[in-house]
Amino acid sequence: MPHADRDESVDAGKSILITGAASGIGLATAHLFARRGWLVGAIDVNATALQALGDALGPERIFVRALDVTDRPALLGVVEAFAARTGGRLDLLFANAGIDAKGRFDAMPWERVVGVIGVNLLGTLSVVHAALPLLKATPGSLCLSTASASAIFGTANMAVYSASKHAIRGFTEALAVELAPSGVRAADLLPGIIDTGMLDPAQKAALPTTGMLRVLSAEAVAEVVLDAYHGDKLHWYVPEELAAYDVEVTTRPEGARDRRIAGGI
Ligand code: NAI
Repeated sequence: MPHADRDESVDAGKSILITGAASGIGLATAHLFARRGWLVGAIDVNATALQALGDALGPERIFVRALDVTDRPALLGVVEAFAARTGGRLDLLFANAGIDAKGRFDAMPWERVVGVIGVNLLGTLSVVHAALPLLKATPGSLCLSTASASAIFGTANMAVYSASKHAIRGFTEALAVELAPSGVRAADLLPGIIDTGMLDPAQKAALPTTGMLRVLSAEAVAEVVLDAYHGDKLHWYVPEELAAYDVEVTTRPEGARDRRIAGGI
């Protein structure tokens, strides 16, 4: 059921914890869920933007904490503080913080490789690990992580990013099975191209306006986050046409490789 048609009272009083909440997909998700009556826990390394979000929504609706998701002790402290606010419950964890890293792998400084894996993969695992006791204590909870269309077929000149996002996908699949007996669901988002701070404005001008790689808004992805909470899919493609592309490249990866070498998709 599209969220616009869903009775908002089913959401009121629930809680969501979002990493990467100060910009783009995380920010749009914070606003959507706050409007629907959820208590929003917002984590981001960008303290200034996070404070602006906190000021916009007010302390009744949002709990903000600036931190780097790779800082394990700080993260544990924030999850504990959020748990104190919710009575130990968490309906939806949205592990979404991520960074990109463009450029050929052979030209990428090693420190950058480690940094991207640190934020995108270890930062995600860290917040999931820390929040699992809260999710387990909450009936119907969902652990949702942001992967990418780069987890369908690796994106050239974003090899490390692609590796991190494939890892999120595999982690999610395993977790979904492991957590089933506890009643916690796990799923991931696989967005295509989304108009956020991550999108280089020069790249945006050259992107298609139709098809699976059309540019979509962060608000459209936020709606899929809500659909994911109320749904039961493992992989949430944004847009949905990416699901057919996934089948195609899984069936014949060499075709995708050769088309991309030739400059296509
Ligand atoms: P964004 O750059 O607008 O937002 C990302 C947020 O994460 C920023 O507020 C940033 O400060 C925060 N962040 C970065 N490193 C952090 C850290 N170490 N600790 C805490 N917060 C940190 O970008 P966007 O697009 O909203 O990205 C959200 C997620 O969506 C990322 O995981 C990204 O990889 C993924 N994604 C984005 C796509 C796009 O086209 N924009 C496509 C597919 C996936």
